[in-house]
Amino acid sequence: MACNWITTVSLVVSLSFLVFGAAASSSPAPNSSNVDGSNTDLAALLAFKGQLSDPLGILARSWTTNVSFCRWVGISCGRRGQRVAVLSLPDMLLQGELSPHIGNLSFLNKLNLTNTGLTGTIPSDLGRLRRLTYLSLFGNGLSGSIPGTLGNLSRLEFLILSNNRLSKQIPPELLQNVGNLKKISLGNNDLSGHIPPYLFNKTTFLRSIYIANNSLSGPIPDGLASLAMLQILYLNDNQLSGTVPPRIYNMSRLQALSLGNNNLNGTIPSNQSFSLPALQELYLYKNNFVGSIPLGFAACQHLQIIVLYTNFFTGFVPTWLTQLPQLTIISLAGNPLVGSIPAGLSNLTSLTWLDLSFINMIGRIPTEISRIQKLSHLFLGVNLLTGSIPTSLGNLSSLCVLDLRGDDLEGGLDFFSSLSNCKNLQILHIQGNSLSGRIPDYVGNLSTQLLQLLANNNDLTGGLPSTLSNLSNLRWIDFSSNLLTGTIPESITMMKNLVTLDFSRNAISGPLPTQISNLRSLQRLYLFRNKLIGSIPDSIGNLTKLEYILLSNNQLNSTIPSSLFHLDKLIRLDFSQNSLNGTLPPDISGLKQVTYIGLSSNCLLGGIPESFGQTMMLTYLNLSHNSFEDSIPDSFQELTSLVSLDLSYNNLSGTIPKFLANFTELRTLNLSFNRLEGKIPEGGVFSNITLPLLIGNSGLCGAPHLGFQPCIQHSHSSNNKNLLVKILFPSVVIVFGSIALCAYVTIKRKLQNKGDIQVDPDDFMSHRLISYRELALATDHFSENNLLGTGSFGKVYKGQLSNGLVVAIKVLLDPQLEQATRSFDAECRVLHMARHRNLIRILNTCSNLDFRALVLQYMPNGSLQMLLHSEGRRQLGFLKRLDIMLDVAMAMEYLHHEHHDVVLHCDLKPSNVLFDTDMTGHVADFGIAKLLLGNDNSLITASMPGTLGYMAPEYGSLGKASRKSDMFSYGIMLLEVFTGKRPTDPMFIADLSIRQWVR
Ligand SMILES: *[C@@H]1O[C@H](CO)[C@@H](O)[C@H](O)[C@H]1NC(C)=O
Repeated sequence: MACNWITTVSLVVSLSFLVFGAAASSSPAPNSSNVDGSNTDLAALLAFKGQLSDPLGILARSWTTNVSFCRWVGISCGRRGQRVAVLSLPDMLLQGELSPHIGNLSFLNKLNLTNTGLTGTIPSDLGRLRRLTYLSLFGNGLSGSIPGTLGNLSRLEFLILSNNRLSKQIPPELLQNVGNLKKISLGNNDLSGHIPPYLFNKTTFLRSIYIANNSLSGPIPDGLASLAMLQILYLNDNQLSGTVPPRIYNMSRLQALSLGNNNLNGTIPSNQSFSLPALQELYLYKNNFVGSIPLGFAACQHLQIIVLYTNFFTGFVPTWLTQLPQLTIISLAGNPLVGSIPAGLSNLTSLTWLDLSFINMIGRIPTEISRIQKLSHLFLGVNLLTGSIPTSLGNLSSLCVLDLRGDDLEGGLDFFSSLSNCKNLQILHIQGNSLSGRIPDYVGNLSTQLLQLLANNNDLTGGLPSTLSNLSNLRWIDFSSNLLTGTIPESITMMKNLVTLDFSRNAISGPLPTQISNLRSLQRLYLFRNKLIGSIPDSIGNLTKLEYILLSNNQLNSTIPSSLFHLDKLIRLDFSQNSLNGTLPPDISGLKQVTYIGLSSNCLLGGIPESFGQTMMLTYLNLSHNSFEDSIPDSFQELTSLVSLDLSYNNLSGTIPKFLANFTELRTLNLSFNRLEGKIPEGGVFSNITLPLLIGNSGLCGAPHLGFQPCIQHSHSSNNKNLLVKILFPSVVIVFGSIALCAYVTIKRKLQNKGDIQVDPDDFMSHRLISYRELALATDHFSENNLLGTGSFGKVYKGQLSNGLVVAIKVLLDPQLEQATRSFDAECRVLHMARHRNLIRILNTCSNLDFRALVLQYMPNGSLQMLLHSEGRRQLGFLKRLDIMLDVAMAMEYLHHEHHDVVLHCDLKPSNVLFDTDMTGHVADFGIAKLLLGNDNSLITASMPGTLGYMAPEYGSLGKASRKSDMFSYGIMLLEVFTGKRPTDPMFIADLSIRQWVR
């Protein structure tokens, strides 16, 4: 509505200019028809401007009516007369929708609105610009489908619509009259469906096709291969299937063929029918191609890039590659090829990228590789290469990535000494080989650019050199699963950028570095299975980014510093199998994200802190083999996400909490060898529990199949030696019992008349009408005290009806809407029938000429919105969040597919999901759209605006509601519920939406 309003305003402005401005203008007019035309152009430009918010004021400053529009920024006029020939404002922030009036610029030749922040759809009126030769809307936020009317642009040479959010199918008529087209670019959108088979029938002069990165499916049209001038064909990153039309391998001018990341299959034709003399770039990665890589490529003397990774090509690693001197990139990785690294690679003097990993290559790494001076990326990992790593690799002065992981390479790390020549080296992966010997001190001479040094799973011995700390940019160091000894050098605490430190599974001894808290970037600290001794430094709580701290299987023997339990990013904490002692701090609630806590086999004692109940993401907790005492805290009932709980071998007393039987995810529960007593609960995890998980608790009873004593009722076990009690007690029970019963019946009757209790809503008056007076009484005359909320539809009150039932009463605004009033009762009857566990029931309605209300089930536990965002909210575990969203999904499934006619919601959002006493989610406000609008759900008026942030783009811009727009809102809610961020959070500005952020 707002946009139309702006259009209207700009039209009024331009019309008044026509009347007053043009009359006052003294410039001589060439002829009257041109004056008319020029006025049309002016009106069109002003309408164009009027739709844009122009946040930088570019148009506001320059596009003023006291200057001829031919002198406005971005406008050029033709040589003859005052008509707009070029509208070009690339890279200027305009924001807003593209006005359809632009179709009136009938002399327009070039339209360049690249990167201007446009949204909305492409107006079909663009198809009226018959003189247009160049159209670029690249890099905007345009959505909707591509208008087929563009097929009328018979002079068009460049059609560039890439990098938008265009969807739906490519219209088959898009290029029907566009005979001069040289370039079409539709890439990076969300186009789907097949590529129309005859799309390119008229485009004889087409040189360049770029339709990569969409969701196109179906085959590659055979007609493409008839485009004799075609040089560039990019169809990568779609879902195209079938075989490649064989004639494509015969296109004499084709320079770039990019079909990667589709579902294509079949073979590349063998040499007779293969001729791509102009080919420079070939990308076929991530498809299902089979057969050998044909010799035909050997004739592509201009080939620079050949990227075939992740297919099913078989046969030998092609040796003819070494005869194509212009090659810069070779990737054959992940094909079941055989062979060894071809000799003669050093002929490829331009080669920068060589990826032969995951191929089953045998033999040694030839030293001649080190003569390829420009090589920056060398991947030879996950093969069967043997021998040592050639020292001469250090000659590759451009080397940036060296990946030799997962081979059978042996020998020492001597090559580190020459590798220090590679000043740009960032990634060094040599893990998973059989490398042995010590880590040389000159490891510290490797490039200071180094980000990753991964040498795990080798046979390295000796200590960690203190020179490691010279690698000051290192993010990730991994020497795990070697045979290292000695201590961790204190110097590594200088590596301020370290994110992951993994020295686990060695025989490293000594204490943790005392200054370990200097590693401020550290997220993952893996030191398990070593021989570390001493204490965990108190300062470890300063590592505020820590997510994983795994120190199990060492000989650490201090207390656990309480600061550790304030690390709110911690996900996994494992200190099991050490000699840690003392008690746990009372407050561990800082561990908001923790899912795994392992403290088993230490010497911990004291009670289990109540605050465990606040670690609600916890799925695994092992406190076994310690000396914990007292009872299992009540707060454990919050830990409903638990999958595994082991409290065995402690001194826990008291009874087994019944709530453990309600934990639906709990698979493993071990309570053996404690001092637990009383009845073993039934159901849930206890249904399948076995004796070893409960044994060693002499006071337990129940579970006869496991051989425990049957439980004796408490009342019977009271002291029965006393005769007086034996006689007196039953009589007292009988007397008080009958009094209590009488009282109960009376009170219940009273309450039913008056009290705030649940009455079965089914009993409630569904067949009788409820009056305004009754609702007014129930809500104390709609008093503010009973107001529950205000929404776009009206106000909601809490009320108690005369029969005691507490209900919510929704009073709808705007009862005057005529057509709505007519159908209101009919619709209400329909919605009244909608019954689902996860919908708020409509119990009754009240409607007369100036008042309409719905009587709804009352939800005492607030909304999802409050649960997620209000102050002092309860903590929500992952599974609870999942539960709630499942509830919502069930309700929507019912409304969309199971109800006898489709009910759209049109305003799904967290404030419309309410909770009953059991915290089951109920969707509210469904069908309101229908109530307000009668039966036409497809057009939504201003009274049904939806909610910003949750509204589907097509709903927002076109008012088109559908099951899909409900689904969109659901998706946004899903992101909100699991990230805790509102889609309207201030951080989401300009182009960053919650969707992009999550992506
Ligand atoms: C359109 O704008 C883009 C971005 O500035 C520029 O690269 C391109 O050359 C322009 N095209 C024409 C024909 O002006």
